[in-house]
Amino acid sequence: MVGIDPFAPARLGPIDLRNRFIKAATFEGRTPKRVVTPELIEFHRRFAAGGVGMTTVAYCAVTRAGSTDGHQVVLDNPEVGGGLRDLTDAVHAEGAAIAAQIGHAGPVANPTGTKSPALAPSRVFSPLGMRRTHAATPAAIATIVEQYAHGAGVLLDAGFDAIEVHIGHGYLLSAFLSPKLNRRTDEFGGSLENRARFSLDVVRAVRAAAGRDVAVTAKINMTDGVRGGFWLDESVEFARMLEADGSLDALTLTGGSSFENPMYLFRGEAPVAEMAEMFPGILKIGVKLVGGRFFKEYPFEEAYFLPYARQFRAALDLPLVLLGGINRLDTVAHALDEGFAFVQMGRALLREPELLLEMRKDPTRESLCIHCNKCMPTIYTGTRCVIG
Ligand SMILES: Cc1cc2nc3c(=O)[nH]c(=O)nc-3n(C[C@H](O)[C@H](O)[C@H](O)COP(=O)(O)O)c2cc1C
Repeated sequence: MVGIDPFAPARLGPIDLRNRFIKAATFEGRTPKRVVTPELIEFHRRFAAGGVGMTTVAYCAVTRAGSTDGHQVVLDNPEVGGGLRDLTDAVHAEGAAIAAQIGHAGPVANPTGTKSPALAPSRVFSPLGMRRTHAATPAAIATIVEQYAHGAGVLLDAGFDAIEVHIGHGYLLSAFLSPKLNRRTDEFGGSLENRARFSLDVVRAVRAAAGRDVAVTAKINMTDGVRGGFWLDESVEFARMLEADGSLDALTLTGGSSFENPMYLFRGEAPVAEMAEMFPGILKIGVKLVGGRFFKEYPFEEAYFLPYARQFRAALDLPLVLLGGINRLDTVAHALDEGFAFVQMGRALLREPELLLEMRKDPTRESLCIHCNKCMPTIYTGTRCVIG
């Protein structure tokens, strides 16, 4: 193969990965009591055995209030560290590195599960919680920054190689960036500089707590995929601010909003009927009737975020991770040739955790994922491909 070999080792900040493939965070649905389970360990061990350079533990919440529905690993729980160490040991034993995504759900949270009101930059109606969110006070923002730092320290102690700060998909930090959701008039609202302040405070705090031996990255929205939301003109500028700040080793580029437009993240079929089945009683009927409006469909294309991601490649020197609809080895090779440092793959690896072993044997071997997105509702029962 000419150009950069996707299977050759590469450096991500202070760490070495055995190749350019990172398993994207796909919430596992294997942590009902908010701590690591044997099922979660086995889930990640399989991707590691399947040859990824690094697997990403999805969405570790800084606190229970920052989880989406109370079923995520929560990093301020003193009981969580031992299980996390078992998880990193199991992945390392297969020769892969392991990252954890750290986040606060903000408006994406369902208050029934978290037992706390959903926080947002400003008060807005949440279709997920079916009530209005609370506007975070400056004191709450300062506390959350400290909670991120604490969480990063827990991940460092548990042996993680990398920490991915979640600044996408309408979660708390992403919501602060949105001109639509952030109507504040204090130092966290208004100008892009003000809307970006919370994210910058968090990445600095995470870097300070994680030290310099762990890679710190962020997953950021290039666009929220909604009218009046965060878009390229500002997201490229935001990425420049992150680059100038110097806390991060790489940026992973995503888009869409679990709060406002979830299918923009994924493209392909909207699994409305299957999602409806996950809701109790009257909500089930509601999702069936109006779910089509929330789960708006977009046609799937290979590497669908590439045209937007190129805007960032042209503007920045920071290593970038391409994500979104990557199913073929030639897509990865072209992305590396264009200057992307790594790729993240989610659904293709859910469909076949051993896909990379197959691609190594036969470089023309494509993923079997058909983007039906029926894996989405399985986050409530143990995330899996419903075909495999
Ligand atoms: C079942 C499922 C769960 C997901 N959970 C998360 C998550 O917890 N955090 C996150 O940032 N993205 C999450 N994602 C989005 C993926 O990380 C990725 O951005 C998206 O699937 C597009 O990549 P792909 O085309 O390679 O699947 C999830 C995706 C799926 C399919």
